[in-house]
Amino acid sequence: MKRRDFLTTTAKVAAGAALFSSPLGAAIPNKSKKRIALVGTGIRGTGFWGKRIVDNYSDIVEFVGLCDINPGRLEFAKRQMKVNCPVFTDFDKMVIQTRPDMVIVTTVDATHDEYIIRAMELGSDVLTEKPMTTDEVKCQAILDAEKRTGKKCIVGFNYRYGTLFTAIKEQLAKKPIGDITSVDFHWYLNVYHGADYFRRWHGERDKSGTLLVHKATHHFDLLNWFIDSDPVEIMAYGDLEHYGRNNPFRGVNCRNCAYTDKCNYYWDIGKDQLAVDLYVKNEKYDGYIRDNCLWREEIDIYDKMSVQIKYANNVIVNYSLTTYSPYEGWRIAFNGKEGRLESWEDIPWRREEKINQARLHATEMNQENGGDTRYDEIFLMKNFDRDYQMIKVEASKGGHGGGDQRLQDKIFRDPNMPDPYKHSAGTRDGAMACLIGIAARKSIEEHRPVKIEELTTIQPHPTRGV
Ligand SMILES: NC(=O)c1ccc[n+]([C@@H]2O[C@H](COP(=O)([O-])OP(=O)(O)OC[C@H]3O[C@@H](n4cnc5c(N)ncnc54)[C@H](O)[C@@H]3O)[C@@H](O)[C@H]2O)c1
Repeated sequence: MKRRDFLTTTAKVAAGAALFSSPLGAAIPNKSKKRIALVGTGIRGTGFWGKRIVDNYSDIVEFVGLCDINPGRLEFAKRQMKVNCPVFTDFDKMVIQTRPDMVIVTTVDATHDEYIIRAMELGSDVLTEKPMTTDEVKCQAILDAEKRTGKKCIVGFNYRYGTLFTAIKEQLAKKPIGDITSVDFHWYLNVYHGADYFRRWHGERDKSGTLLVHKATHHFDLLNWFIDSDPVEIMAYGDLEHYGRNNPFRGVNCRNCAYTDKCNYYWDIGKDQLAVDLYVKNEKYDGYIRDNCLWREEIDIYDKMSVQIKYANNVIVNYSLTTYSPYEGWRIAFNGKEGRLESWEDIPWRREEKINQARLHATEMNQENGGDTRYDEIFLMKNFDRDYQMIKVEASKGGHGGGDQRLQDKIFRDPNMPDPYKHSAGTRDGAMACLIGIAARKSIEEHRPVKIEELTTIQPHPTRGV
């Protein structure tokens, strides 16, 4: 078979750059600084929505308050972010005293609703981390509060802004494979990244909603965005067969464990200074243990998940999430009436170099690390063609494929920048993504297909966002 290679772009952030090319570093003239308050000063709050905002947007944005239930972590946050604003353990007091234009919500997932709603009631717009929320009742309450208050809530779906995902969206918009009829999407978390979810609150469903909500909400949002339709019905399977109760031995946490020699997952938190400063030194305030045993009995989420989604435009999706894979990566394939479009990332035998999985996880978590430029690939093959096309996408690996900066530019630097592929997400998109996970969880528990229209007042529509 003859292969044709196409280098679509040579710019560093190939597909997405042109769409989000706001003048970086250029201040918006005659506009006072946007007043920001943040609730949830953990790793995401202090880093991605904290220090990174201070470093890159201080000409237009000012932190006016920080809030958390942990006073020690609040003090660390001030030092880490290099800000001097007041800190609060009482959210209402913070918003009433500081009058922020926008509240950023980066708390434990199951508490997002409380702060999103209260911030809007007290007169602020909101930017929330994904997942928007963890169950359908909270989801409805957020939608109602937005309508009632007239305030806006943005959902920070950074994956959409990634270079490769943007390039896939661009290709799909050209309809190269005719009408899409089905999609295969499989995501593999490795034994470092996947395991990390089981060490802390993510392992408890009342806090994370399970990984079908906490993690897969990223992937469900991408599917909704790619397919450009609303999900209508979900059927799912899942189980906990590896982590949690499934091991013959368990300790209290890694620091106090008698089995460090024989546990492949032993993690010495003492070697990670940021984790020590953020979590270990502040355990005394709230008992939040960052290096919990991932074999602990309380873990009640799934570690293998399979979800089928039927969309209003009749597309059918087969999705899976694995949490103890030897390698971290994903594959997607769109089947259309006239062909097939595929892409992938980080599958070791598809790359020439051997990937160090531990280092890959560290890079994924470190949002500051933007180096490591390389190509990603999209394959396109038309039915009855003997030839296939490989579209190369030059990518930046830093911070979710370089998407993180483009997301923040759109929110802070220039909210009016052109958005032809509708990367921006509000509460309807936030709801549709988490509702797939919520419906999947219900489907597993109740052994039945679950309709999206059962869950909230949102009625699915063949065309997204109507
Ligand atoms: N988009 C992404 O790629 C991405 C990446 C990482 C995390 N996140 C999201 O960011 C959020 C925070 O995750 P993290 O990894 O920083 O977790 P974390 O555990 O490091 O931080 C959570 C913080 O919330 C605080 N908190 C807990 N309950 C609270 C409450 N009731 N009120 C106020 N504060 C409370 C904790 O004290 C802690 O400081 C989560 O919603 C997560 O899904 C998103």
